[in-house]
Amino acid sequence: MFVRLNGFNMHYEDHGTGIPLLFLHGFLLSGAMWEPQVAALSDIARVLTPDLRGHGASDAPPGAYSMDLLAEDCHSLLNALGIQPPVVLCGLSMGGYTSFAYYRRYPHEVAAMILTATRASDDSPEAKAKRDEAIRIAEQVGPSAVVDIWLSKMMSPKTYANNPALVERWREIMERTPVTGIVGALMGMRDRPDSRPLLNQIKVPTLIIHGADDQLIPIQEAEAMHIGIVGSQMEVLPDAGHMPNLEQAELFNRLVRDFLRALKK
Ligand code: MLT
Repeated sequence: MFVRLNGFNMHYEDHGTGIPLLFLHGFLLSGAMWEPQVAALSDIARVLTPDLRGHGASDAPPGAYSMDLLAEDCHSLLNALGIQPPVVLCGLSMGGYTSFAYYRRYPHEVAAMILTATRASDDSPEAKAKRDEAIRIAEQVGPSAVVDIWLSKMMSPKTYANNPALVERWREIMERTPVTGIVGALMGMRDRPDSRPLLNQIKVPTLIIHGADDQLIPIQEAEAMHIGIVGSQMEVLPDAGHMPNLEQAELFNRLVRDFLRALKK
């Protein structure tokens, strides 16, 4: 389904009933990455899977996509659908950066957070320089050259070896990301604020999920969030890289299900 908001057409899917559960995908990905979660969780939650601007079937307007802008798009989506807060946010990587922005803007509209394969820290000067280089590559060579860089580190070594179909499926989806979308997201991630000062202000139940083999975001980043967010729960998934919800879908779904059930108590 599509909705027009904030000057662009946003694609989203909306399944199930129960507490609103908003899934926020990562860079170059799309709402389709949450298919196993839609199937497993829409009996206990209203599962919303938007394609963030610049990604999937949503439009890719030009300009930088700050994490605030991405959060605002999602907030507008919930408003457009008449969904009453509070919502549970589940953000993966860039979707986690967006979850922090959402919480900063609307702390009283968030019931709980699931921070997956993400980090609170901002980009180091070296990381910013890599973003600029990736922007140049996207503009001068094209999306597939950027996808090559990211996809080579996206999964666990076991996934590359045992599930090449998953890797190829995602290569195809990622390569369809328009240049304006890639550049907008890279600029937004490069300039995102440091969310570490926010951690001790997060007062909602928080589940942190990280793949043991994540090659894009070191596990120490997840540990730092766990220490910073008082009372948070941290789970490390074996044989999973940067896409634990796909690489260890059953385990991931069980953890999220238990977490949602505990919220009701
Ligand atoms: C993502 O998966 O969203 C990105 O790898 C995050 C990043 O590049 O910092």
